[in-house]
Amino acid sequence: MVTGILEKARELSVFTAYNTNVDAIVYLNGEIVQRLIDEFGAEAVRRRIEEYPRQINEPLDFVARLVHALKTGKPMAVPLVNEELHSWFDSHFTYDVERMGGQAGIIANLLANLDFRKVIVYTPHLARKQAMMFVPKRNLFYPLVEDGKLVLKHPHEAYRENDPIKVNRIFEFRAGTTFKLGEERITVPFSGRFIVSARFESIRIYTEPELKPFLPEIGLMSDGAILSGYQGIKLRYSDGKDANHYLREAKKDILLLKREKDLKVHLEFASIQNRELRKKVIYNLFPLVDSVGMDEAEIAYVLNALGYSKLADRIFTYNRIEDTVLGGKILIDEMNLELLQIHTIYYIMYIAHSDNPLSEEELRQSLELATTLAAARASLGEVTSPEDFKVGLNVPYNERGEYVKLRFEEAKRRLRTKEYKVVIIPTRLVENPVSTVGLGDTISAGAFTSYLAMLKEKGE
Ligand code: GLC
Repeated sequence: MVTGILEKARELSVFTAYNTNVDAIVYLNGEIVQRLIDEFGAEAVRRRIEEYPRQINEPLDFVARLVHALKTGKPMAVPLVNEELHSWFDSHFTYDVERMGGQAGIIANLLANLDFRKVIVYTPHLARKQAMMFVPKRNLFYPLVEDGKLVLKHPHEAYRENDPIKVNRIFEFRAGTTFKLGEERITVPFSGRFIVSARFESIRIYTEPELKPFLPEIGLMSDGAILSGYQGIKLRYSDGKDANHYLREAKKDILLLKREKDLKVHLEFASIQNRELRKKVIYNLFPLVDSVGMDEAEIAYVLNALGYSKLADRIFTYNRIEDTVLGGKILIDEMNLELLQIHTIYYIMYIAHSDNPLSEEELRQSLELATTLAAARASLGEVTSPEDFKVGLNVPYNERGEYVKLRFEEAKRRLRTKEYKVVIIPTRLVENPVSTVGLGDTISAGAFTSYLAMLKEKGE
């Protein structure tokens, strides 16, 4: 069943923008973490965790947020704002691997490797090193303007020598890793990653003015668009530009992509620690897109920004399915989304209005494809061909799968869900993932493209 849907999805052409970066990966073990804690002292680390810094200004901020992420086993991303810390990081860690990072880059490589008909990826900065991280596939293109015309070239042929490069540091952690915080013995409950994301002045999220007039043409060539990277916008820049400026331009981009046809647009929402920026992204962009994807922590952050702080706290603390369903209902109603997809370690959920053209069964198939694809990536580290998808089919559902289904049925009974289509599936969970960075993007790309493929089949 899902294999058939993947085949249909592969006939699609997809546009994706805006963020790419280099992910420099460190595989953490207990000793590395212990050394960090000992360097600063358990008491200081504990105090800083209490303060819960939203950005990394000094090394202790990093250690505190990292230890907090390890303790909960939750994937987190925190921006590094003090550029002087680069040397501190580089003197404390050696990076095991460098690979493509950023939603647009990860999704473009994934869909190209799956042999989608055409994948057009746009990122405003494309230095040589960044460009070379794109896979050498002939269905992958970067849009350029030459002699006043739109031309599509492989990213390897489109780079600009002097473009800036953004490097994020990714700390991959494994379930079962142990260390001590003073007297407290901590065992990491789930595998995941902690991202120290770089926020450079020179990296902007936008479409270059020369390319902008061609967005309607790109929209026409595509069956759907996946947009992300807004988390990288800064509230203010030294040249006087601010988040309002970039979000105004981002709105124009979406409208231009949709100008010549009703192109479906998916926004992949990544962690935005700053509440003001988070709010701006939600209010400016959600009403313009059709579909939004995020993880459980992010829905809590979004609800908090919309004023539902009690519900947000509940989701953070108890992770109850019922609260997530309720939060999802609020979000699709307030923003009038066509589709909302929320992924967590144990389950993935879709919420749509009851007039959505797809049946609940079809929506479920779309999520099945998504979790299978992510399981393949977690097992292999990378999905390099359509055949790799099969690896995901052999990954078992997580041990809480039955419990998830039960809780969901309960939640459905208790909450009024008649005006909605809500589906939830347990995830296929890889016990020892090669890597976890990009799994959420893989789920979202699989979910949205299979949704599109099924819509298309229905003539929608
Ligand atoms: C964010 C991070 C990037 C990472 C990606 C994975 O875009 O900035 O480093 O590769 O998330 O989802």
